[in-house]
Amino acid sequence: AGDPLVLGIETSCDETGVALVRGDDLLVDTTASSMDEHARFGGIIPEVASRAHLEAMIPTIQQAIGEADVDLSEVDAIAVTAGPGLVGPLTIGASAAKALAIGLGKPLYGVNHVIGHACVDQLVHGAFPDRVMALVVSGGHSSLLLVDDVATDVTELGSTLDDAAGEAFDKVGRLLGLPYPGGPHIDRLAREGDPTAIRFPRGLTAAKDQAKHAADFSFSGLKTAVARWVENEQDAGRPIPVADIAASFAEAVVDVLTAKTIAACRRHDVGTLVIGGGFSANSQLRAKAAERCAEAGIDLRIPPIRYCTDNGAMIAALGSAVVRAGVAPSALDIGVDSSMP
Ligand code: KG4
Ligand code: ZN
Repeated sequence: AGDPLVLGIETSCDETGVALVRGDDLLVDTTASSMDEHARFGGIIPEVASRAHLEAMIPTIQQAIGEADVDLSEVDAIAVTAGPGLVGPLTIGASAAKALAIGLGKPLYGVNHVIGHACVDQLVHGAFPDRVMALVVSGGHSSLLLVDDVATDVTELGSTLDDAAGEAFDKVGRLLGLPYPGGPHIDRLAREGDPTAIRFPRGLTAAKDQAKHAADFSFSGLKTAVARWVENEQDAGRPIPVADIAASFAEAVVDVLTAKTIAACRRHDVGTLVIGGGFSANSQLRAKAAERCAEAGIDLRIPPIRYCTDNGAMIAALGSAVVRAGVAPSALDIGVDSSMP
């Protein structure tokens, strides 16, 4: 079609992602991950991730181009994650994108990673309606976005004041002696436990917090409450009911995420909710969101899990939206912003 062919590059964390998008059509999405190298440290090591991006970048671009059976000269624009993320990894992706833009004589677009997590849904479920709410939840972010135009008009209504949802799961996983990342393990255990066994606190839901932080989240108090509860039981010599803890903890997280998100949809008169980010793989969140959206008459869109984790498709999708919206390209000396809002 007449839409531009956009090559997207994502390197904000441990995934080297390269994808090609035309319009809202995904031609190819290729990912290399350095997670195996980080798992043994129990967390992402930025220097290790940067080096892995450097090594994987050109082979991943070549693989994407080869699989899509296009020539680099056919690419009309280069999109790259400019932030937020780890500064070293972001820099590797930005450098590669600038080199391509100069070499090919094509425009460069630095785009926002968190908005990308929402935008990728357009490749799966089609163009967004006029106004959507996006809940982006991962190991690095928990943000609520009001999206009037994904290319030009996105408002962050709120975000986590401390830990991201996936991060909280990973920390509670560590506390329970589960391998890193603990999120998927807690998910699995929670399915066997009783979510009403223990009443853990719901962060920022008290009336006084609602006034100032209606769309913000906080999970660090919850994590501390779980730690205290476990210590108490250990001190009393009682066995630790791991599945019930996992289920009750997961319930506390997804109760708050979904309640605040749906309240925001109501406040802003939004009929469509998009959920993205690696934590949207969580089965407790999917079930609760489906239940509450159905009750509220909200159309729920969650892309398949491979598009929820970090990937090039989300950046190419947002690049494609930005190019089609007529936004001016980025300067070739554009920097990266690890804490981009
Ligand atoms: O988007 P992602 O791949 O990387 C970041 O940008 O952080 O998200 C990974 C995060 C990790 O914290 C991981 O534990 C969590 O998402 N996660 C899950 C599940 N799958 C991944 N947390 C809970 N339940 C899951 N099924
Ligand atoms: Zn992400």
